[in-house]
Amino acid sequence: MSENETLISAARQARENAHAPYSNFRVGAALRATSGKIFGGCNVENATYGLTVCAERIAIFKAISEGERGFDAISVVTDTDALTPPCGACRQLIWEFCGDIPVIMANLKGRVEIMQMQNLFPRPFDSSHL
Ligand code: THU
Repeated sequence: MSENETLISAARQARENAHAPYSNFRVGAALRATSGKIFGGCNVENATYGLTVCAERIAIFKAISEGERGFDAISVVTDTDALTPPCGACRQLIWEFCGDIPVIMANLKGRVEIMQMQNLFPRPFDSSHL
């Protein structure tokens, strides 16, 4: 299995744990640290709706809180024909912690598309502006 396939598979597995009773839109993410470790995340919804956290941010916060710094790639998996890109808030967080990494979008049917963060998130606000 290639590195990308391994990451997609981890995101698929994380998606199994999605808590999405309100939207029924189940998302899995997986983040590969430069250490080689992979951190999975799923969306975790809340009855208030607004407190919902996306799969990507869960994966990032898990990795950061475990002491990881530096990341190679992130994968996002959903069960939709149109592949799912990270939302705006997640793009900001991915940029903050991962910079210009590839975002590997995939669905359960095996469709895959890869986009670099600099194309998904042009002209970001970041620490260079402070
Ligand atoms: N969601 C994610 O987890 N990641 C994305 O990239 C897009 C949206 C979640 C949030 C919410 O639980 C559901 O998908 C519908 O927006």
